[in-house]
Amino acid sequence: MFEPDRVNAFTPQETPFYYYDIALLERTLDAARQAADPMGFHVHYALKANFNDRLLECVRAMGFGADCVSGNEVRKAIETGFDPGKIVFAGVGKSDKEITFALSKDIFAFNVESIQELEVIDALAAADGKKARVALRINPNVDAHTHQYITTGLDENKFGIAHWELTEAIETLRRCLHIELVGIHFHVGSQITDLNVFKSLCVKVNELNNWFDERGFRIKVLNVGGGLGVDYHEPDAQSIPDFKAYFSVFDEFLERKPGQEVHFELGRALVSQCGSLVSRVLYVKNGIKKNFLIIDAGMTELMRPALYQAYHRIENLTAQADGDRDDVVHYDVVGPICESSDCFGKEVPLPTTFRGDLIAIRTAGAYGEVMASRYNLRQEIRYVYSDLL
Ligand code: LLP
Repeated sequence: MFEPDRVNAFTPQETPFYYYDIALLERTLDAARQAADPMGFHVHYALKANFNDRLLECVRAMGFGADCVSGNEVRKAIETGFDPGKIVFAGVGKSDKEITFALSKDIFAFNVESIQELEVIDALAAADGKKARVALRINPNVDAHTHQYITTGLDENKFGIAHWELTEAIETLRRCLHIELVGIHFHVGSQITDLNVFKSLCVKVNELNNWFDERGFRIKVLNVGGGLGVDYHEPDAQSIPDFKAYFSVFDEFLERKPGQEVHFELGRALVSQCGSLVSRVLYVKNGIKKNFLIIDAGMTELMRPALYQAYHRIENLTAQADGDRDDVVHYDVVGPICESSDCFGKEVPLPTTFRGDLIAIRTAGAYGEVMASRYNLRQEIRYVYSDLL
């Protein structure tokens, strides 16, 4: 919720910028921890959602681990003070250099995505006289029912080891003397709002957990990935995801063997709602068929609408603070980039809007700032924190 005083505090800021509500972030992290702790669940934060320094610091202070997908993310997590024993390194294409670096930091585990990668990690660990802990990422062929670009757990996706390769994978593991299998890992997609998807995942994890057990592999960790969705339509009514409902699905349906740990890799659910992209209206173009608001943020600052046709709620903060604009006009809200895909929303109902008004694009804390680019040689993205305004 943007209070008028907050909006007035934005006035001297150069736009566009990301605004991070630190109090909401802390409440969200706390809610996740309060829900996970009683069930004995371990949460690793997926840095890819947002690696802004201040956000990372809050996540670390809350005691979460880190889920990284590049050597640089591993480095960043360590620099921020995450315990290496709580860092996992995932990704379909880890380079030799990244693997060697992560080995040197003695991270908790590599989430391994292919048999060839097992062999490479084994060889690199042998060269350094180390033993690498790994979790096998298995493609469970569970449909996440989300956007095709962020569905990852189907047979046609590039991720993970297919179930028909598992026999070969365990033969390889028996040969690889510099690898210790500590877990099995899954991630079926992102922005999942139907909790039944996670029930289906639990069923597959149980089957595979038994499969490994029957073959003499004692699996210490069941890592079920991330993917919990957020409400892009009602960011204020649903500012904190229902972590309890989410974790309860796993508590109820996952069959843990004695001593087994359950790990999660949440990104979006932890940081989305605390972030908004704040932008100023540069021009209002009233056409015959369309009214356009041309704002000073573009797909370079928030790529999700252009890339995934993603919906983000758009609000006119100046009108909200004025409180006296009751009419509604439908605008296409677009950025300044030289592409028609540079559009944040079509036919968006807003009060009559003027040049200079401040616009907020909500629920932008995850996969916003981190996916910004310098295309068109745009200014590097700025950000402000709510408690430093
Ligand atoms: N674990 C793995 C292996 C992942 O691939 C991902 C996200 C996560 C965890 C965290 O998922 P989350 O809890 O945030 O859903 N840029 C897209 C989302 C890409 C997600 C990639 N993987 C977007 O803006 O919607």
